[in-house]
Amino acid sequence: MLLSFASLALVAGLATARNCQDITVSVSITARNGNFNVQPTQNDIEVTNFILDGTQQGHNASAQVLDGYIDVSGAYDLSTTYCTPDDGPGKAIQLLTHGVGFDRSYWDLSFNDYNYSYVEQALAAGYSTFTHDRLGIGESARADPIRDIQAPLEIAALLALTNLLKDGGIPGVSESYDKVIHVGHSFGAIQSYALTRDHPELSAGLILQGFAQNATFLPYFLLGGNFVAVQNTPLASSYPAGYVAAGNPSAVQTNFFSPGMFDPAILDLAYSTGQPVSLGELLTVGGAAAGINPFSGPVLIITGNRDVPFCGGDCSMTGDPNLPDIMTASKPSFPNAAAFEVVNVPGAGHGLNLEYSHTYTYQQMLEFLSANEGGNWGPVRRAFRA
Ligand SMILES: *[C@@H]1O[C@H](CO)[C@@H](O)[C@H](O)[C@H]1NC(C)=O
Ligand SMILES: *[C@@H]1O[C@H](CO)[C@@H](O)[C@H](O)[C@H]1NC(C)=O
Ligand SMILES: *[C@@H]1O[C@H](CO)[C@@H](O)[C@H](O)[C@H]1NC(C)=O
Repeated sequence: MLLSFASLALVAGLATARNCQDITVSVSITARNGNFNVQPTQNDIEVTNFILDGTQQGHNASAQVLDGYIDVSGAYDLSTTYCTPDDGPGKAIQLLTHGVGFDRSYWDLSFNDYNYSYVEQALAAGYSTFTHDRLGIGESARADPIRDIQAPLEIAALLALTNLLKDGGIPGVSESYDKVIHVGHSFGAIQSYALTRDHPELSAGLILQGFAQNATFLPYFLLGGNFVAVQNTPLASSYPAGYVAAGNPSAVQTNFFSPGMFDPAILDLAYSTGQPVSLGELLTVGGAAAGINPFSGPVLIITGNRDVPFCGGDCSMTGDPNLPDIMTASKPSFPNAAAFEVVNVPGAGHGLNLEYSHTYTYQQMLEFLSANEGGNWGPVRRAFRA
């Protein structure tokens, strides 16, 4: 009886139900942000001027407009989704942070009946998941897009969420998790890097997806993104001046999709559900993942070989016979990592979860976690469970 039930579950595969709830989480946070001498962009010409100022070779555009630092703080509501496997809380929780151009649905794409959903697969592998719209994006709170919505304040929000998951402080969630695994895509990976660098003891594992520490090619992303003022897009009613968004589907294709690797319908979805980026984010994305990371847990960097922003379209071209890819240049940044692995996804672009190779990508991510569990993800502490 048990056996036939098990094989039925196998056949059903992804159709297994899951327990997910949307939760609004209030965080009170403080950070030292840059004080940038920049005005909110009022039209597309001002946006293009900002991008041209920001991509001159040999310049540090952030430094050029930086006028010291300011402490910013506030109480903000973050929109999150908490999921557990069918049979209760997972062996650890994955805290998933999306990148520029997306919201938290990047991790749980409904496309093709959730066939592209990373959350589905993480739940099936026995993990709980926690996704959030980053501060200033999607359904999460707005604040000044130049002074407030910058990497440091968003990293403070990620820190607050991490502590709440560990302490059992998420409203409506009775579990607390000893093991919080940080998983980020692109700007979300940069923030996860910074969090584990500054608070290495708070993380049980780190997956940096669509990431490298080489900033040489970020201008490709800025120029390829065909950014326009958010006021001139369908997102106008949801965001103030000082946000910019991809001007058309081709811009999204250039930055996130590799030739031949995607269903044209998912490009339409990525464009129609796409989110903008604040000027404050663009001014702070480059420097946030600098420095040695003392994190002592397992680290995986997984990036498409044709990634544009971090590899300029070919991660394998390093010019150094001893360096197989641009991601591996991060190895010295993790001197204490229990494991350090790089996966260079063949043929894939920057938007890994949306490409045909997502199956391979997820398999690599989950196999890495499984291989590095070492039997010590530990049981979930349950405050109360009927
Ligand atoms: C550019 O300047 C900013 C602000 O001074 C700094 O944080 C960042 O590390 C610099 N970037 C590079 C690549 O030097
Ligand atoms: C999603 O669909 C593709 C193509 O049909 C298939 O190869 C893959 O195994 C599916 N993934 C899952 C998780 O079902
Ligand atoms: C970034 O990658 C390019 C191409 O491999 C390489 O020429 C350059 O030296 C790298 N920059 C840094 C800072 O590692």
